[in-house]
Amino acid sequence: MFNLILFGPPGSGKGTQSENIIAANGLQHLSTGNLLRNEITNQTPLGLKAKTFMDAGQLVPDEVVIGMVDNFMNAHPRANGFLFDGFPRTTAQCIALDALLQQKGTEINVVLALEVGEQELVKRLLGRGATSGRSDDTNETVIRARIKEYHDKTTAVATYYAQFNKVVNVKGEGTVESIYANLKKEIDARI
Ligand code: AP5
Repeated sequence: MFNLILFGPPGSGKGTQSENIIAANGLQHLSTGNLLRNEITNQTPLGLKAKTFMDAGQLVPDEVVIGMVDNFMNAHPRANGFLFDGFPRTTAQCIALDALLQQKGTEINVVLALEVGEQELVKRLLGRGATSGRSDDTNETVIRARIKEYHDKTTAVATYYAQFNKVVNVKGEGTVESIYANLKKEIDARI
């Protein structure tokens, strides 16, 4: 198995770049943001609980997200590997993910961290908010709250994996194609 974390702040291009990476490498895409939005659309109890946090730009509690990831991985027992997008987002989620992977006899191979300046992040997310209907993209205060959560809680994920020398920084500004070419180089060197 090959397991990759695509890491970066809100709007850094994780979802955009995931599409090419999963297509090229046959990985299973695990986006906790997408899973949570599906739960909201289906009006499940989990979705109703998560919506309050997401609309405020705050992280959903660890136990909710970890349970959802466990279910998703168990539902894909024959996956060649997973691309984790938007997960893990806290040190507790890193520890839980390592344990889940260890149970399956595998591990995280690399963390590719997209680097994008804050002004560009806000511009991208407000741009998408104008058309996508994603409620957490339409309000700049909520976008800035998401970026703050990233600095306060999620940068710890890079620190956690850096202790195992698994983090590679990749410039996340430029064209989608040029960024993908750099990500591909790092993946091809390891897969
Ligand atoms: P989530 O859905 O994960 O959102 P996010 O991290 O805020 O990230 P985005 O999807 O907004 O950005 P992205 O990096 O994927 O960029 P994208 O490719 O979309 O999470 C939403 C919420 O769910 C969280 O706030 C939290 O409440 C909750 N949640 C999710 N996971 C959780 C977890 N593990 N624990 C707790 N809570 C969790 O691109 C963004 C825009 O930029 C697009 O319009 C795109 O077209 C554009 N773009 C992309 N690349 C470029 C480029 N190179 N140049 C110009 N524009 C570009």
